[in-house]
Amino acid sequence: MTEMATDVGKADPQTGVLVARAKPTVARARRKRHRTRSSKPLPEPITVAEAEAKKMRTVNPAQYYRQNLGQLGFGDPEHALVQTIKELTDNSLDATEAMGVLPEITVKLTATAKRYEVITNKTKEGSVRTFPIFRVSVEDNGCGVVRSKVAKAFGKVLYGSKFFSFKQSRGQQGLGVHAAIIYAQLTSLEPATIVTKTETDPAGYKVELKIDTEKNAPVVISSGEAPFDRVHGTRVDLMVAGDYTEKVESFIKEMSLANPHADLRFKVKAATGQDQRVLHFKRATDVLPPQPKEIRPHLLSMEPGALLEMKSNDACCRTAKQFLVKHFVRISGGKALYLLKKARIAPQAPPKDIDVEALLKAAREGDIMRPPLDVLSPIGEEALRHSLKRIYPDAEFIASTSREPWSYRGVPFQVEVGAAYGGQSVSNDCATSKETIFKSKIVRLGNKCPLIYDSKDCLLYKVVKEINWRNYKIPQDEGNPPAAPLVVVVSLISTKVPYIVPGKFAVAYHEEIREQLRLALQTLGRMIYGYISHRQRQEHEQHRQSIFQIYAKEVAKDLSVLAEKDEQLLLNGLLESVKHKKPKKVAPPEPPKVEITATENVELKVEPKVETRVETRPVVETKPVAAPPQKKVEKGQHTLDAFFG
Ligand SMILES: Nc1ncnc2c1ncn2[C@@H]1O[C@H](COP(=O)(O)OP(=O)(O)OP(=O)(O)O)[C@@H](O)[C@H]1O
Ligand SMILES: [Mg+2]
Repeated sequence: MTEMATDVGKADPQTGVLVARAKPTVARARRKRHRTRSSKPLPEPITVAEAEAKKMRTVNPAQYYRQNLGQLGFGDPEHALVQTIKELTDNSLDATEAMGVLPEITVKLTATAKRYEVITNKTKEGSVRTFPIFRVSVEDNGCGVVRSKVAKAFGKVLYGSKFFSFKQSRGQQGLGVHAAIIYAQLTSLEPATIVTKTETDPAGYKVELKIDTEKNAPVVISSGEAPFDRVHGTRVDLMVAGDYTEKVESFIKEMSLANPHADLRFKVKAATGQDQRVLHFKRATDVLPPQPKEIRPHLLSMEPGALLEMKSNDACCRTAKQFLVKHFVRISGGKALYLLKKARIAPQAPPKDIDVEALLKAAREGDIMRPPLDVLSPIGEEALRHSLKRIYPDAEFIASTSREPWSYRGVPFQVEVGAAYGGQSVSNDCATSKETIFKSKIVRLGNKCPLIYDSKDCLLYKVVKEINWRNYKIPQDEGNPPAAPLVVVVSLISTKVPYIVPGKFAVAYHEEIREQLRLALQTLGRMIYGYISHRQRQEHEQHRQSIFQIYAKEVAKDLSVLAEKDEQLLLNGLLESVKHKKPKKVAPPEPPKVEITATENVELKVEPKVETRVETRPVVETKPVAAPPQKKVEKGQHTLDAFFG
């Protein structure tokens, strides 16, 4: 130390490098000053890592989502209003499905005089934008919530009944209604009001609560019995800042489209002083869709890390064989022994000794049956067509089709697609760039619930764009959705819809889902092709007849002079003859390969690209007339005798 101090400022004799003169550090100088002034020791300086360590603490999910409400669709008042309605109606539909009753849901939206101000630099007037506070109320006839669980079910983030069940449902995570309540209390300062009644409860039960996001716990403001008109069900009231746009009604419409068995009332007062408007979407079918069934996870759907945790925490199984049979679907005793042998794991070994990587490898090679596929509850092809007809009553053509259930990474799923083509109501829903160039509308559904935002990132949207719609006579700019007055419904149902973000806006890419969607949309395209071809043939025929009619009068007039017959009779004969074109004979008519089913609107069974020239019109019945022996007439040759009788 002393040596170094003496060498400071001199050149190193070996390297010749100048040794820098040591400056007293600020801390050293401070300490020196301090020593001279007081005898108290200064706190030891801490490192950056120590300073960071002092800040470390657990983040609870309520705090996290309060700061990241955008991830759940509550980023701004416009999105938040639709998202609030979506979360509440999702829960209502799930609750009626659990109860096994036809849903009766009322959504009430009332603008209040209260305002919410946000700082923004978007407006010209200034940097403050104000939004009305809406009272959003959603009431259902679902199963209700038992009294002891109401506070937590609505007041504790990531608390719910659906996360741990492998069952198709709209809700998956225990976040939706909580995010809406947090958004409500952040923007309006008002608590949520829940009135609920189970079928065994003699009266309704009302709770007013807020969520303490610091503790992720409910703060109950009041609770007690309250009247509730239905035998069972729930009503949730929230005060949220919102921007009322056409998205709201469009969402309600899509929700009704996705749930043809639901009776949906939407009562809205979009601004103070306005009259209430009521939109009533009556159910299109009284038939309840099948109840989705709960299953255990499939071994192939497990990540190695998750399996590792599962086997380490397992406390109920004594052996590896028991563990596999108990926790996974499609694994019988025999299958478990086979897999364990393949993975070189002793069947009697305790679960904690399972080598997860070897087991998963054996499972991948071991040909495990796909998960049971009858656990899903699709909308149904017919119900979807009825639903489309109800929303688009004047559509020219309505069609729907679905694929057999399939699975991605051990998770069952099914796709259904539908379309409404042409007609005023469809055109009204499709934006137009010029007067005649339409932009088709794509309705994406995940477990029968409309996905509202981030369509560009969604697999359901991407596959619609991928299809070459021009093959089906539908205009399209390459790589874009079809450019026609066309509403395409793309529905994916699954025990676990792979959403990209917790807000459930868009579906992530999975090759199996993409393939099934592609095939379903191609079938749908063929149906539309069949209709368009039929319509074009009709138009062509009308055109042909109209040209003939122009000349028929003249011809009949001249003929009547020549043949001394009644002009009107001749004209009728001429017109009749053009109506009934004789069928052209073509080589033995191979029945076209039919993959499409006809809809109510149009009866057609045509494959694209298959030129079928078989006219199916009834052959004209002509009365046999006793006539003198006729000259042999060439086929297709018109003779005057034919009209003179
Ligand atoms: N209308 C309702 N009727 C009956 N139970 C309800 C209703 N609304 C909410 N719940 C209960 O509250 C729980 C929490 O609802 P929340 O919307 O937060 O989560 P989730 O529906 O389970 O999943 P997600 O986050 O995907 O919406 C639900 O799981 C359900 O048990
Ligand atoms: Mg929910």
